[in-house]
Amino acid sequence: MAILVSGGTGFIGSHTCVELLNKGEEVIIFDNLSNSKREVVGKIERITGKKAKFYKADMLDKDALEKIFGENDIEAVVHFAGYKAVGESVHVPLKYFENNIVGTIYLCETMKKHNCKKMVFSSSATVYGMKNKSPLSEEMPLSVTNPYGRTKLMIEDMLRDICTADSEWGVMLLRYFNPIGAHKSGLIGEDPNGIPTNLLPNIVNAVTKKNGPLKVFGSDYPTRDGSCVRDYIHVEDLAAGHVCALKELRRRNGIEAVNLGTGNGYSVFEIIDAFEKVNGVKVPYEIVGRRDGDVAECYANPEKAKRIFKWNATRGISEMCADLWNYVLTNRK
Ligand code: WQD
Repeated sequence: MAILVSGGTGFIGSHTCVELLNKGEEVIIFDNLSNSKREVVGKIERITGKKAKFYKADMLDKDALEKIFGENDIEAVVHFAGYKAVGESVHVPLKYFENNIVGTIYLCETMKKHNCKKMVFSSSATVYGMKNKSPLSEEMPLSVTNPYGRTKLMIEDMLRDICTADSEWGVMLLRYFNPIGAHKSGLIGEDPNGIPTNLLPNIVNAVTKKNGPLKVFGSDYPTRDGSCVRDYIHVEDLAAGHVCALKELRRRNGIEAVNLGTGNGYSVFEIIDAFEKVNGVKVPYEIVGRRDGDVAECYANPEKAKRIFKWNATRGISEMCADLWNYVLTNRK
């Protein structure tokens, strides 16, 4: 039976496909390529030496979903597909609600029709909102402050209700912290369309002088050096966490929310420093005002993943920065 990966040519999706194929799973990818490239499929196959069936499809296209499930014997879905730009979501909330929520409803309806009731869902630490104090644990109260985060929380709640209604469903809600880095081969990595908003792609752009110096959003936070602290996790560690989640779903049904983070927080200035040291480059930056919606500190309590998945992140900040820079150098135009 196959594992269907929605959004499988994206940053985390592609790295998870590599992990799944390397573990001997049959992988089918569907992606609408709105924020990734078709060539990633070939790179996944080059890294693993294995084939992955690909469908260019949109989860809002019910006929396309029906075709995928009708043509394949699918055991479980690893669900990455969705828009994920926090800032954009504030301006076009309906685009995010329709794509992320309605799309997931169509996906779940098609899964149910074909008796496929296992899902690993790509959730986010953003569901912890701004009131909880790090380290963040899964049982903490949830709240959101932007439409992107609301789609993640609404999908979590929807999946909780589906599991309550039908005990045959098994769902893992994986709450990511800050995924960065790239596959060691340099063949796949974070390749966002448009102007990136996340820190590491903007550090890369500052080093390569693509759009001027990095803007550091605030140095007056109540943290050890005044800049925001986040839990950066290597994308390959994150991918490994998805394989563990799938293995757990083969053991049992029901629903669990699980943090995928390192439990260590690093500030913006510490990331800049690490990036410069490990790669022998200079990151030009300027300190500007705080960015709306940023919290001072956000990092995981990683204990639950250790307990139920026997998983923990193993790669450190230097390796994350080195692997990202290797990807940039390998793919520079
Ligand atoms: C990290 C830190 C910024 C850019 C977001 C989403 C979250 C998840 C991960 C999807 C912050 C600072 C950033 C820059 C900066 N995405 N920064 N200059 O905001 O922690 O999380 O991405 O699941 O849902 O909210 O990540 O990389 O944008 O910011 O100073 O040019 O870097 O202020 O402190 P964030 P980020």
